[in-house]
Amino acid sequence: MKLFHLCQIVSCAVLASCTSSTPESTFIDDLMSRMSLEEKIGQLNLPTGGDLQSGTVFGPELDSLILKGRIGGFFNVKGVKEISRLQHLAVEKGSHGIPLLVGADVIHGYETVFPIPLAMSCTWDTTAVERMASISATEATADGVNWNFSPMVDICRDPRWGRIAEGSGEDPYLGAKMGSAYVRGYQGENLKADSTLLACVKHFALYGAAEGGRDYREADMSDITMYNYYLPPFKAAIDAGCATLMTSFNLINGTHATADGKLINGLLRKDWGFDGLVVSDYNSFPEIATMGTSTMDEAATLALKAGTDMDMVSGLFLGNLKEAVEKGLVSEKLIDKACRRVLVAKQQLGLFDNPYVYCNPRRAETDIFTDAHRHAARGIAAETFVLLKNDNNILPLKKRGKIAVIGPLADTPANMVGCWSMHAQTDRYGSLLDAIKKAVGDDAHVLYSQGCNIYDDETMQRNATGSRPIPFIHDTRQLEREALQAAGQADIIVAAMGESSDMSGESASRADISIPSPQRRLLEKLKETGKPVVLLLFTGRPLVLDWESRNLDAILNVWFGGSEAGDAIADVIFGDKIPQGKLTTSFPLHQGQIPIHYNHLQTSHPDPQPGVFNRYCSNYIDVDNETLYPFGYGLSYTTFEYGKPEISSPTLEKGGTLTLSVEVRNTGEYDGIEIVQLYIRDPVAKIARPVKELKDYARVFLRKGETGTVRFILTEEKLKYYNADLEYGYDPGEFLVMIGPDSRNLQTLSFQAK
Ligand code: NOJ
Repeated sequence: MKLFHLCQIVSCAVLASCTSSTPESTFIDDLMSRMSLEEKIGQLNLPTGGDLQSGTVFGPELDSLILKGRIGGFFNVKGVKEISRLQHLAVEKGSHGIPLLVGADVIHGYETVFPIPLAMSCTWDTTAVERMASISATEATADGVNWNFSPMVDICRDPRWGRIAEGSGEDPYLGAKMGSAYVRGYQGENLKADSTLLACVKHFALYGAAEGGRDYREADMSDITMYNYYLPPFKAAIDAGCATLMTSFNLINGTHATADGKLINGLLRKDWGFDGLVVSDYNSFPEIATMGTSTMDEAATLALKAGTDMDMVSGLFLGNLKEAVEKGLVSEKLIDKACRRVLVAKQQLGLFDNPYVYCNPRRAETDIFTDAHRHAARGIAAETFVLLKNDNNILPLKKRGKIAVIGPLADTPANMVGCWSMHAQTDRYGSLLDAIKKAVGDDAHVLYSQGCNIYDDETMQRNATGSRPIPFIHDTRQLEREALQAAGQADIIVAAMGESSDMSGESASRADISIPSPQRRLLEKLKETGKPVVLLLFTGRPLVLDWESRNLDAILNVWFGGSEAGDAIADVIFGDKIPQGKLTTSFPLHQGQIPIHYNHLQTSHPDPQPGVFNRYCSNYIDVDNETLYPFGYGLSYTTFEYGKPEISSPTLEKGGTLTLSVEVRNTGEYDGIEIVQLYIRDPVAKIARPVKELKDYARVFLRKGETGTVRFILTEEKLKYYNADLEYGYDPGEFLVMIGPDSRNLQTLSFQAK
């Protein structure tokens, strides 16, 4: 029998900032004493060097800003050659030879693309996340980048929001674990090494709560909700040593996040002690004005006074700050503080010792899209897939007979990679169809048909596939005929459907989060053939899958798995790897249930029973309250049985610990990994606490037939929360503790906390 001991989280050493009197700070004091006000303001300017999505490059403008000392860094320039040229220009010809920060959005890999962050979170595997972040850092730095605008840790309860794809789901505990793992992976042990870079946690704060899931909309939220659910991942990333932070560009309770002094100077800097660089999001400064919270003249000074150091793109610091100082609207001291933070970030990277540390063209040839990185990405992608349904163990498939691969997402490598994949080299890896053919070789016959468009409407399809085109086919009858012909000949149908890459991510909100209608119609037709249908679901968000869950034989959610997704999917569908991912966002049964999250509060009326409408319960007349697939849910090819959990004592003494243990047995036919989850409920507290909250979990590997004991150590830390006075603590008394395979399927014990 195996014994798994879970240790407390060991947080990374916080990077020392260089503000006390050290040789580093003396160096910066000396440098700043030689800089003019304009030069200091210049350090606060972060223009884009182009637009990587559209391929636009703003070269000559950058050169002139560098030569005039009007720039602290830039982003969106791809390629070590050009970046190196710009760095040489800054160091050799720019004022004071100050090197540049070079930013990029390396959100889920660089040329080796990993699964989108939402998928990554479904591994519940911080080691995998750290490895992925470390490989991303290696590749990005090999191409000249030294600052990564990641991790994105926005909690989201509304799957209509397209950027749910970029975060780690709806849970603060898991979000915090993931956020700190990204930071450790990007920054490593030594930020001065040539393969590590500055992380930038974003978007501070509440961007994920955009009203109605519509991008850029405001968030209106109580402090207790913010502190208990939305802020923990930010705090965890800061505690892990994240060197920089990006503000959000939406309104929070009526104040623009980039000009929110209570949040930035107050919470972040004063309460959390963060003295690193704070950068605005894209063009946020003028938006402070356009969103109605300042005049255009005041916007930059408001942001600076609130604690934002660097202006991404707008140029308003450059245009307004000098005059604001002269008019006495802002003190030069504030500009000094911000400038110092930019310079300290450069110092942390070692750029003053060696400005060309990230400008080694040989690394670009040896360290990017390597076999080792691709191998890691393939393994990690397989860990992210979530098996939602598998009737009659239809999966894994045998490599024999005739397999019909059908759907508009089966043969499009560009649409496997997901939202932040502008560095992907889409001609250097194969499609899902290629991977399936390769996997079966001569043992099975693979038939293929695209079958349908993504959307019925050509314009909608164009909107949904802008940067990753999928040609719209006008003769849809012919498409369908081909698909049904392939299906008719096959023993099994594998449908590759769902969302195209561009249907999630920034500015990709959806009001209807079901599978678009031509795809659903084709699924219905495929079902009518009577052949088993396996849906490989591509998606960047939870979808409403009510019909699919009732009618298809198996559903494997493969998200957007990155450049190696094809092979990873083949590994899993043919059983070379076993699915193990579990959901980190609730999958609603119906769109009307949104916003939806498992950790909600108790209502004044009793919980409704699923399937039974009760007038005076808090339920819908027409739809159950329950999600279709709850938070924490995911199947395997094997099965696990849980024993009765045990607790070491009925009382948790002050400062003491309790041990919770449960036996888990692998009762199926395969070795596999199970994610055992622990939830807590405080039934009586100063303010109402959620009906359950994830507080720990264990990923355990059990061989077929093997039993293991999982042990969780409970401390009072796990019971704490922010009350109405924003005091962090817990209320002694009864607590419930629940253990199980997902947030719905739990066994409950209780204890008294002293
Ligand atoms: C806007 C996005 O909100 C942010 O996440 C990203 O880092 C910046 N653009 C820079 O590309």
